[in-house]
Amino acid sequence: MTYQRVSAAILQELRKICGEENVFVDPEKMEAYSHDETPAQDYGHMPEVVTTPTTTSSVAEILKLANREMIPVTPRGAGSGLSGGAIPVYGGIVLSVEKMNRIIEVDYDNMMLVVEPGVVTNDINDLVGERGLFFAGYPMSLETCFVGGNIAENAGGGKAVKYGVTGQYITGMELVTPTGEVIELGGKIIKDVSGYDLKKLIIGSEGTLGIVTKSTIRLTPKPKEKTVLLVLFADIEGAISMVPKIMTGAGIIPTSIEFMDQLSVHTSCKYLNEQLPYQDAGSMLLIEVDGSTRERVDEDAEVIGEMCFDGGALEVYVADNYTTQERVWSVRRNIAEAFKVYSPEQSLEDIVVPVNAIVELMRRVNEISEKYKIQMPSYGHAGDGNLHTTLVKPPEWSHEEWRKIEEQILRELYREVRRLGGKLSGEHGIGSKRKTFFQDFINESELMLIKKIKSAFDPKGIMNPGKIVD
Ligand code: LAC
Ligand code: ZN
Repeated sequence: MTYQRVSAAILQELRKICGEENVFVDPEKMEAYSHDETPAQDYGHMPEVVTTPTTTSSVAEILKLANREMIPVTPRGAGSGLSGGAIPVYGGIVLSVEKMNRIIEVDYDNMMLVVEPGVVTNDINDLVGERGLFFAGYPMSLETCFVGGNIAENAGGGKAVKYGVTGQYITGMELVTPTGEVIELGGKIIKDVSGYDLKKLIIGSEGTLGIVTKSTIRLTPKPKEKTVLLVLFADIEGAISMVPKIMTGAGIIPTSIEFMDQLSVHTSCKYLNEQLPYQDAGSMLLIEVDGSTRERVDEDAEVIGEMCFDGGALEVYVADNYTTQERVWSVRRNIAEAFKVYSPEQSLEDIVVPVNAIVELMRRVNEISEKYKIQMPSYGHAGDGNLHTTLVKPPEWSHEEWRKIEEQILRELYREVRRLGGKLSGEHGIGSKRKTFFQDFINESELMLIKKIKSAFDPKGIMNPGKIVD
Protein backbone atom coordinates (compact mmCIF):
# COMPACT_ATOMS: atom_id res chain seq x y z
CA MET A 1 0.00 0.00 0.00
CA THR A 2 1.38 3.44 -0.86
CA TYR A 3 0.00 6.17 1.29
CA GLN A 4 0.19 9.90 0.80
CA ARG A 5 1.61 12.29 3.35
CA VAL A 6 -0.62 14.71 5.22
CA SER A 7 -0.02 17.96 3.32
CA ALA A 8 -0.73 21.52 4.42
CA ALA A 9 -3.86 21.46 2.24
CA ILE A 10 -5.12 18.32 3.96
CA LEU A 11 -4.46 19.84 7.37
CA GLN A 12 -6.54 22.79 6.26
CA GLU A 13 -9.40 20.50 5.30
CA LEU A 14 -9.16 18.63 8.60
CA ARG A 15 -9.38 21.93 10.46
CA LYS A 16 -12.47 22.82 8.48
CA ILE A 17 -14.08 19.48 9.29
CA CYS A 18 -13.22 19.28 13.00
CA GLY A 19 -12.51 22.85 14.06
CA GLU A 20 -9.10 24.38 14.68
CA GLU A 21 -9.01 23.18 18.30
CA ASN A 22 -9.44 19.54 17.28
CA VAL A 23 -6.46 19.19 14.95
CA PHE A 24 -2.86 19.29 16.15
CA VAL A 25 0.59 18.55 14.79
CA ASP A 26 2.83 19.65 17.65
CA PRO A 27 5.24 16.69 18.12
CA GLU A 28 5.32 17.12 21.88
CA LYS A 29 1.56 16.85 22.06
CA MET A 30 1.42 14.06 19.49
CA GLU A 31 3.95 11.89 21.31
CA ALA A 32 1.27 10.53 23.66
CA TYR A 33 -0.58 9.26 20.57
CA SER A 34 2.42 7.39 19.19
CA HIS A 35 2.14 4.39 21.50
CA ASP A 36 -0.22 2.43 23.70
CA GLU A 37 0.73 0.27 26.68
CA THR A 38 3.00 -2.01 24.65
CA PRO A 39 6.66 -0.95 24.91
CA ALA A 40 6.98 2.29 22.95
CA GLN A 41 10.58 1.69 21.82
CA ASP A 42 9.54 -1.40 19.86
CA TYR A 43 6.07 -0.62 18.62
CA GLY A 44 5.65 3.15 18.76
CA HIS A 45 5.22 5.35 15.69
CA MET A 46 4.45 9.05 15.39
CA PRO A 47 1.28 10.20 13.63
CA GLU A 48 1.46 13.11 11.18
CA VAL A 49 -1.61 14.71 12.69
CA VAL A 50 -3.97 14.01 15.56
CA THR A 51 -7.67 14.83 15.29
CA THR A 52 -10.22 14.82 18.09
CA PRO A 53 -13.57 15.06 16.27
CA THR A 54 -16.69 15.62 18.34
CA THR A 55 -19.42 14.36 16.01
CA THR A 56 -20.23 11.35 13.86
CA SER A 57 -20.44 13.52 10.78
CA SER A 58 -16.91 14.84 11.27
CA VAL A 59 -15.63 11.26 11.69
CA ALA A 60 -17.36 10.43 8.40
CA GLU A 61 -15.88 13.49 6.69
CA ILE A 62 -12.37 12.62 7.89
CA LEU A 63 -12.70 9.11 6.50
CA LYS A 64 -13.99 10.37 3.16
CA LEU A 65 -11.05 12.73 2.93
CA ALA A 66 -8.61 9.98 3.90
CA ASN A 67 -10.05 7.72 1.19
CA ARG A 68 -9.83 10.36 -1.45
CA GLU A 69 -6.23 11.20 -0.55
CA MET A 70 -4.99 7.72 0.47
CA ILE A 71 -4.09 8.70 4.02
CA PRO A 72 -4.05 6.04 6.76
CA VAL A 73 -6.37 6.63 9.71
CA THR A 74 -5.76 5.02 13.09
CA PRO A 75 -8.64 5.18 15.56
CA ARG A 76 -7.74 5.56 19.19
CA GLY A 77 -9.51 5.19 22.51
CA ALA A 78 -7.72 5.69 25.81
CA GLY A 79 -4.49 4.12 24.57
CA SER A 80 -4.59 1.42 27.25
CA GLY A 81 -4.32 -1.37 24.66
CA LEU A 82 -1.66 -4.06 24.88
CA SER A 83 -1.08 -5.11 21.28
CA GLY A 84 -0.26 -1.88 19.48
CA GLY A 85 -3.75 -1.64 17.98
CA ALA A 86 -3.96 2.15 18.34
CA ILE A 87 -0.47 2.90 17.02
CA PRO A 88 -0.32 4.73 13.68
CA VAL A 89 2.30 2.41 12.19
CA TYR A 90 2.08 4.18 8.81
CA GLY A 91 1.84 7.69 10.25
CA GLY A 92 -1.12 9.58 8.83
CA ILE A 93 -4.10 10.62 10.92
CA VAL A 94 -4.78 9.48 14.46
CA LEU A 95 -8.48 9.83 15.09
CA SER A 96 -8.93 10.00 18.84
CA VAL A 97 -12.47 9.60 20.19
CA GLU A 98 -11.56 11.27 23.49
CA LYS A 99 -13.99 14.15 22.95
CA MET A 100 -16.88 11.90 21.96
CA ASN A 101 -17.54 11.06 25.57
CA ARG A 102 -21.23 11.60 26.20
CA ILE A 103 -23.66 9.17 27.71
CA ILE A 104 -26.41 9.83 25.19
CA GLU A 105 -29.28 7.90 26.67
CA VAL A 106 -30.04 6.03 29.87
CA ASP A 107 -32.95 3.68 29.19
CA TYR A 108 -33.75 1.90 32.43
CA ASP A 109 -36.96 0.44 30.97
CA ASN A 110 -34.88 -1.64 28.61
CA MET A 111 -31.87 -1.77 30.95
CA MET A 112 -29.71 -0.23 28.23
CA LEU A 113 -27.43 2.72 27.70
CA VAL A 114 -26.43 4.47 24.52
CA VAL A 115 -22.94 5.94 24.75
CA GLU A 116 -20.24 7.55 22.67
CA PRO A 117 -16.93 5.70 22.31
CA GLY A 118 -14.87 8.01 24.53
CA VAL A 119 -16.82 7.23 27.71
CA VAL A 120 -14.56 5.82 30.43
CA THR A 121 -15.83 2.32 31.13
CA ASN A 122 -16.04 2.70 34.89
CA ASP A 123 -18.14 5.85 34.58
CA ILE A 124 -20.94 3.63 33.32
CA ASN A 125 -20.78 1.48 36.41
CA ASP A 126 -20.64 4.54 38.65
CA LEU A 127 -23.73 5.92 36.96
CA VAL A 128 -25.92 2.83 36.85
CA GLY A 129 -24.63 1.33 40.11
CA GLU A 130 -27.09 3.51 42.00
CA ARG A 131 -29.89 1.63 40.28
CA GLY A 132 -28.40 -1.75 41.21
CA LEU A 133 -27.11 -2.37 37.68
CA PHE A 134 -23.74 -2.77 36.01
CA PHE A 135 -22.04 -3.26 32.64
CA ALA A 136 -20.66 -6.76 33.18
CA GLY A 137 -18.24 -7.03 30.27
CA TYR A 138 -15.61 -4.63 31.51
CA PRO A 139 -11.85 -5.28 31.45
CA MET A 140 -9.23 -4.93 34.19
CA SER A 141 -8.30 -1.40 33.07
CA LEU A 142 -11.85 -0.16 33.66
CA GLU A 143 -10.78 3.02 35.39
CA THR A 144 -8.97 4.37 32.34
CA CYS A 145 -10.10 2.49 29.23
CA PHE A 146 -12.83 3.70 26.87
CA VAL A 147 -15.90 1.82 25.72
CA GLY A 148 -14.78 2.30 22.10
CA GLY A 149 -11.51 0.50 22.77
CA ASN A 150 -13.31 -2.26 24.68
CA ILE A 151 -15.47 -2.87 21.62
CA ALA A 152 -12.54 -2.73 19.21
CA GLU A 153 -10.68 -5.38 21.19
CA ASN A 154 -13.72 -7.26 22.50
CA ALA A 155 -12.10 -6.76 25.87
CA GLY A 156 -12.50 -9.27 28.64
CA GLY A 157 -11.67 -9.05 32.26
CA GLY A 158 -11.82 -10.57 35.70
CA LYS A 159 -15.49 -11.52 35.66
CA ALA A 160 -15.61 -13.23 32.28
CA VAL A 161 -15.99 -16.73 33.76
CA LYS A 162 -19.55 -15.88 34.77
CA TYR A 163 -20.42 -12.79 32.76
CA GLY A 164 -18.47 -13.09 29.54
CA VAL A 165 -16.76 -10.30 27.63
CA THR A 166 -17.63 -6.87 26.21
CA GLY A 167 -19.18 -8.14 22.99
CA GLN A 168 -21.92 -10.00 24.81
CA TYR A 169 -23.26 -6.69 26.11
CA ILE A 170 -23.18 -4.65 22.93
CA THR A 171 -26.57 -4.96 21.26
CA GLY A 172 -26.29 -2.13 18.79
CA MET A 173 -23.94 0.40 17.28
CA GLU A 174 -23.55 3.31 14.92
CA LEU A 175 -20.59 2.60 12.68
CA VAL A 176 -18.74 4.89 10.35
CA THR A 177 -17.35 2.61 7.66
CA PRO A 178 -13.85 3.20 6.31
CA THR A 179 -15.37 4.81 3.23
CA GLY A 180 -17.26 7.31 5.40
CA GLU A 181 -20.80 5.85 5.33
CA VAL A 182 -22.79 5.88 8.56
CA ILE A 183 -24.69 2.68 9.34
CA GLU A 184 -26.79 1.41 12.25
CA LEU A 185 -26.26 -2.18 13.34
CA GLY A 186 -28.45 -4.04 15.83
CA GLY A 187 -30.33 -1.88 18.33
CA LYS A 188 -31.93 -2.15 21.73
CA ILE A 189 -32.71 -5.76 21.02
CA ILE A 190 -31.44 -8.87 22.71
CA LYS A 191 -32.17 -11.24 19.84
CA ASP A 192 -31.46 -10.59 16.19
CA VAL A 193 -30.95 -12.98 13.31
CA SER A 194 -31.94 -10.50 10.66
CA GLY A 195 -29.16 -11.13 8.22
CA TYR A 196 -25.46 -11.41 8.91
CA ASP A 197 -24.50 -10.15 12.33
CA LEU A 198 -22.14 -7.42 11.17
CA LYS A 199 -22.07 -5.92 14.62
CA LYS A 200 -20.39 -9.06 15.93
CA LEU A 201 -17.87 -8.80 13.13
CA ILE A 202 -17.01 -5.25 14.15
CA ILE A 203 -16.60 -6.22 17.81
CA GLY A 204 -13.01 -7.33 18.21
CA SER A 205 -11.96 -6.19 14.72
CA GLU A 206 -9.37 -3.87 16.30
CA GLY A 207 -10.52 -0.74 14.52
CA THR A 208 -9.73 -2.16 11.10
CA LEU A 209 -13.31 -2.20 9.76
CA GLY A 210 -14.60 1.18 10.85
CA ILE A 211 -15.15 3.47 13.80
CA VAL A 212 -17.95 2.86 16.28
CA THR A 213 -19.38 6.27 17.09
CA LYS A 214 -22.26 5.11 19.31
CA SER A 215 -23.01 1.86 21.05
CA THR A 216 -25.96 0.37 22.88
CA ILE A 217 -24.91 -1.44 26.02
CA ARG A 218 -27.02 -3.96 27.88
CA LEU A 219 -26.97 -3.68 31.65
CA THR A 220 -27.15 -6.52 34.16
CA PRO A 221 -28.52 -6.54 37.72
CA LYS A 222 -25.60 -6.18 40.07
CA PRO A 223 -25.31 -9.13 42.45
CA LYS A 224 -26.06 -7.98 45.97
CA GLU A 225 -23.53 -10.18 47.69
CA LYS A 226 -20.10 -11.49 46.90
CA THR A 227 -17.19 -13.23 48.56
CA VAL A 228 -13.59 -13.47 47.50
CA LEU A 229 -11.46 -16.45 48.43
CA LEU A 230 -7.71 -16.16 48.38
CA VAL A 231 -6.46 -19.72 48.15
CA LEU A 232 -2.79 -20.49 48.71
CA PHE A 233 -0.91 -23.39 47.22
CA ALA A 234 2.62 -24.66 47.68
CA ASP A 235 3.35 -24.55 43.96
CA ILE A 236 2.00 -23.57 40.56
CA GLU A 237 0.76 -26.99 39.57
CA GLY A 238 -1.31 -27.25 42.76
CA ALA A 239 -3.22 -24.06 42.04
CA ILE A 240 -3.62 -24.44 38.32
CA SER A 241 -4.82 -28.04 38.47
CA MET A 242 -7.63 -26.90 40.78
CA VAL A 243 -9.05 -24.66 38.08
CA PRO A 244 -10.64 -27.26 35.76
CA LYS A 245 -11.74 -29.21 38.82
CA ILE A 246 -13.68 -26.24 40.17
CA MET A 247 -15.14 -25.38 36.79
CA THR A 248 -16.47 -28.88 36.19
CA GLY A 249 -17.00 -30.23 39.68
CA ALA A 250 -18.37 -27.48 41.93
CA GLY A 251 -21.77 -27.18 40.27
CA ILE A 252 -21.29 -23.44 40.58
CA ILE A 253 -20.24 -20.81 38.07
CA PRO A 254 -17.80 -18.66 39.99
CA THR A 255 -17.58 -14.99 39.01
CA SER A 256 -13.81 -15.24 38.68
CA ILE A 257 -10.96 -17.67 39.04
CA GLU A 258 -7.76 -15.68 38.78
CA PHE A 259 -4.33 -17.25 39.06
CA MET A 260 -1.19 -15.51 40.32
CA ASP A 261 2.21 -17.11 40.65
CA GLN A 262 4.63 -16.10 43.37
CA LEU A 263 6.68 -13.63 41.35
CA SER A 264 3.53 -11.90 40.09
CA VAL A 265 2.15 -11.49 43.62
CA HIS A 266 5.49 -10.29 44.99
CA THR A 267 6.00 -7.79 42.21
CA SER A 268 2.54 -6.30 42.55
CA CYS A 269 2.77 -6.19 46.38
CA LYS A 270 6.12 -4.41 46.11
CA TYR A 271 4.65 -1.91 43.67
CA LEU A 272 1.62 -1.26 45.86
CA ASN A 273 3.54 -1.46 49.12
CA GLU A 274 0.99 -4.05 50.11
CA GLN A 275 1.20 -7.27 52.12
CA LEU A 276 -0.92 -10.30 51.41
CA PRO A 277 -1.00 -13.09 53.97
CA TYR A 278 1.53 -15.81 53.20
CA GLN A 279 3.25 -13.99 50.42
CA ASP A 280 5.56 -16.96 50.32
CA ALA A 281 2.99 -19.34 48.90
CA GLY A 282 4.13 -20.77 45.54
CA SER A 283 0.98 -19.52 43.86
CA MET A 284 -2.54 -18.33 44.59
CA LEU A 285 -6.05 -18.43 43.24
CA LEU A 286 -8.38 -15.52 43.69
CA ILE A 287 -11.88 -16.94 43.45
CA GLU A 288 -14.95 -14.75 43.55
CA VAL A 289 -18.52 -15.93 43.88
CA ASP A 290 -21.55 -13.68 43.82
CA GLY A 291 -25.30 -13.98 44.20
CA SER A 292 -28.40 -12.38 45.57
CA THR A 293 -28.29 -13.64 49.16
CA ARG A 294 -25.51 -13.89 51.73
CA GLU A 295 -26.44 -17.47 52.60
CA ARG A 296 -26.16 -18.64 49.03
CA VAL A 297 -22.85 -16.91 48.46
CA ASP A 298 -21.40 -18.29 51.70
CA GLU A 299 -22.58 -21.75 50.77
CA ASP A 300 -20.99 -21.57 47.30
CA ALA A 301 -17.76 -20.21 48.75
CA GLU A 302 -17.68 -23.04 51.24
CA VAL A 303 -18.14 -25.69 48.55
CA ILE A 304 -15.27 -24.24 46.53
CA GLY A 305 -13.09 -23.69 49.60
CA GLU A 306 -13.57 -27.33 50.65
CA MET A 307 -12.71 -28.51 47.15
CA CYS A 308 -9.49 -26.51 47.30
CA PHE A 309 -8.54 -27.98 50.67
CA ASP A 310 -9.22 -31.46 49.34
CA GLY A 311 -7.09 -30.60 46.33
CA GLY A 312 -4.11 -29.69 48.51
CA ALA A 313 -4.53 -25.97 49.24
CA LEU A 314 -2.38 -24.70 52.11
CA GLU A 315 -4.86 -22.10 53.22
CA VAL A 316 -8.15 -20.53 52.19
CA TYR A 317 -8.69 -16.91 53.22
CA VAL A 318 -12.19 -15.52 53.03
CA ALA A 319 -12.53 -11.84 52.16
CA ASP A 320 -16.17 -11.09 52.84
CA ASN A 321 -15.99 -7.33 53.22
CA TYR A 322 -15.42 -4.75 50.54
CA THR A 323 -12.12 -3.39 51.89
CA THR A 324 -10.38 -6.74 52.02
CA GLN A 325 -11.81 -7.78 48.66
CA GLU A 326 -10.50 -4.58 47.12
CA ARG A 327 -7.04 -5.15 48.61
CA VAL A 328 -6.83 -8.60 47.10
CA TRP A 329 -8.21 -7.53 43.73
CA SER A 330 -5.90 -4.53 43.66
CA VAL A 331 -2.87 -6.82 43.93
CA ARG A 332 -4.23 -8.84 41.02
CA ARG A 333 -5.18 -5.80 38.91
CA ASN A 334 -1.79 -4.14 39.29
CA ILE A 335 0.44 -7.04 38.28
CA ALA A 336 0.86 -5.89 34.66
CA GLU A 337 1.65 -2.33 35.71
CA ALA A 338 4.08 -3.53 38.38
CA PHE A 339 6.03 -5.65 35.88
CA LYS A 340 6.17 -2.70 33.55
CA VAL A 341 7.75 -0.59 36.26
CA TYR A 342 10.26 -3.16 37.52
CA SER A 343 10.96 -5.00 34.25
CA PRO A 344 10.22 -2.58 31.43
CA GLU A 345 11.69 -4.87 28.76
CA GLN A 346 9.24 -7.69 28.57
CA SER A 347 6.53 -9.25 26.48
CA LEU A 348 3.12 -9.43 28.10
CA GLU A 349 1.28 -12.36 26.54
CA ASP A 350 -2.40 -13.19 26.40
CA ILE A 351 -2.51 -16.87 25.46
CA VAL A 352 -5.73 -18.81 25.81
CA VAL A 353 -6.41 -22.54 25.79
CA PRO A 354 -9.38 -24.76 26.64
CA VAL A 355 -9.72 -24.77 30.41
CA ASN A 356 -8.75 -28.43 30.76
CA ALA A 357 -5.48 -27.75 28.91
CA ILE A 358 -4.30 -25.03 31.24
CA VAL A 359 -2.37 -27.44 33.48
CA GLU A 360 -0.36 -28.71 30.55
CA LEU A 361 0.12 -25.19 29.25
CA MET A 362 1.69 -24.11 32.54
CA ARG A 363 4.04 -27.12 32.42
CA ARG A 364 5.17 -26.09 28.95
CA VAL A 365 5.65 -22.50 30.10
CA ASN A 366 7.91 -23.72 32.89
CA GLU A 367 9.92 -25.90 30.53
CA ILE A 368 10.42 -23.03 28.11
CA SER A 369 11.39 -20.70 30.92
CA GLU A 370 14.01 -23.17 32.14
CA LYS A 371 15.30 -23.91 28.65
CA TYR A 372 15.95 -20.24 27.85
CA LYS A 373 16.86 -19.31 31.41
CA ILE A 374 14.46 -16.39 31.53
CA GLN A 375 11.77 -15.55 34.02
CA MET A 376 8.27 -16.14 32.69
CA PRO A 377 5.89 -15.18 35.45
CA SER A 378 2.26 -16.07 34.79
CA TYR A 379 -1.00 -14.75 36.09
CA GLY A 380 -4.42 -14.23 34.64
CA HIS A 381 -7.92 -15.37 34.07
CA ALA A 382 -7.36 -19.07 34.66
CA GLY A 383 -11.07 -19.84 34.80
CA ASP A 384 -11.24 -18.81 31.12
CA GLY A 385 -8.03 -20.63 30.19
CA ASN A 386 -6.50 -17.18 29.55
CA LEU A 387 -3.04 -16.50 30.96
CA HIS A 388 -0.84 -13.42 30.88
CA THR A 389 2.48 -15.21 30.78
CA THR A 390 5.13 -12.51 30.66
CA LEU A 391 8.60 -12.92 29.15
CA VAL A 392 11.03 -10.84 31.17
CA LYS A 393 14.38 -9.77 29.70
CA PRO A 394 17.31 -10.82 31.87
CA PRO A 395 19.14 -7.61 32.85
CA GLU A 396 22.45 -8.81 31.34
CA TRP A 397 21.03 -9.24 27.82
CA SER A 398 21.20 -6.43 25.29
CA HIS A 399 18.02 -5.12 23.74
CA GLU A 400 18.91 -6.63 20.33
CA GLU A 401 19.73 -10.03 21.80
CA TRP A 402 16.49 -9.92 23.69
CA ARG A 403 14.34 -9.12 20.66
CA LYS A 404 15.83 -12.06 18.75
CA ILE A 405 15.39 -14.60 21.52
CA GLU A 406 12.02 -13.17 22.48
CA GLU A 407 10.74 -14.02 19.02
CA GLN A 408 12.13 -17.53 19.25
CA ILE A 409 10.54 -18.10 22.65
CA LEU A 410 7.22 -16.70 21.49
CA ARG A 411 7.19 -19.02 18.50
CA GLU A 412 7.82 -21.97 20.76
CA LEU A 413 5.20 -20.86 23.26
CA TYR A 414 2.60 -20.23 20.57
CA ARG A 415 3.31 -23.63 19.03
CA GLU A 416 2.39 -25.26 22.33
CA VAL A 417 -0.69 -23.09 22.64
CA ARG A 418 -1.79 -24.14 19.20
CA ARG A 419 -1.13 -27.80 19.90
CA LEU A 420 -3.39 -27.52 22.93
CA GLY A 421 -6.21 -26.07 20.84
CA GLY A 422 -5.60 -22.52 21.96
CA LYS A 423 -5.18 -19.07 20.44
CA LEU A 424 -2.70 -16.23 20.49
CA SER A 425 -4.84 -13.71 22.28
CA GLY A 426 -7.85 -14.00 24.54
CA GLU A 427 -8.49 -10.33 25.14
CA HIS A 428 -5.63 -8.03 24.07
CA GLY A 429 -5.81 -8.63 20.33
CA ILE A 430 -3.31 -9.22 17.54
CA GLY A 431 -2.64 -5.58 16.66
CA SER A 432 0.84 -4.98 15.34
CA LYS A 433 2.52 -6.93 18.14
CA ARG A 434 1.34 -10.42 17.17
CA LYS A 435 0.75 -9.95 13.47
CA THR A 436 3.63 -12.09 12.22
CA PHE A 437 2.72 -14.93 14.56
CA PHE A 438 -0.99 -14.81 13.72
CA GLN A 439 -0.36 -16.18 10.24
CA ASP A 440 0.84 -19.45 11.78
CA PHE A 441 -2.54 -19.87 13.42
CA ILE A 442 -4.68 -19.62 10.31
CA ASN A 443 -4.71 -21.42 7.01
CA GLU A 444 -4.66 -19.91 3.55
CA SER A 445 -8.44 -20.06 3.11
CA GLU A 446 -9.11 -18.28 6.39
CA LEU A 447 -6.52 -15.66 5.53
CA MET A 448 -8.18 -15.07 2.16
CA LEU A 449 -11.58 -14.64 3.82
CA ILE A 450 -10.14 -12.15 6.30
CA LYS A 451 -8.57 -10.20 3.45
CA LYS A 452 -11.80 -10.20 1.43
CA ILE A 453 -13.84 -9.01 4.40
CA LYS A 454 -11.29 -6.30 5.01
CA SER A 455 -11.40 -5.09 1.42
CA ALA A 456 -15.22 -5.22 1.33
CA PHE A 457 -15.26 -2.70 4.19
CA ASP A 458 -12.11 -0.83 3.33
CA PRO A 459 -11.29 -1.11 -0.39
CA LYS A 460 -8.41 1.35 -0.20
CA GLY A 461 -6.89 -0.07 2.98
CA ILE A 462 -6.79 3.23 4.86
CA MET A 463 -8.39 2.03 8.08
CA ASN A 464 -5.88 1.17 10.80
CA PRO A 465 -3.43 -0.47 8.40
CA GLY A 466 -0.66 -2.73 9.64
CA LYS A 467 -2.86 -4.54 12.15
CA ILE A 468 -3.97 -8.20 12.39
CA VAL A 469 -2.79 -9.06 8.84
CA ASP A 470 -0.99 -7.15 6.12
C1 LAC B 1 -4.82 -8.13 33.20
C2 LAC B 1 -4.57 -7.41 31.92
C3 LAC B 1 -3.12 -7.35 31.60
O1 LAC B 1 -5.55 -9.11 33.20
O2 LAC B 1 -5.28 -7.97 30.87
O3 LAC B 1 -4.28 -7.70 34.22
ZN1 ZN C 1 -6.29 -9.74 31.44
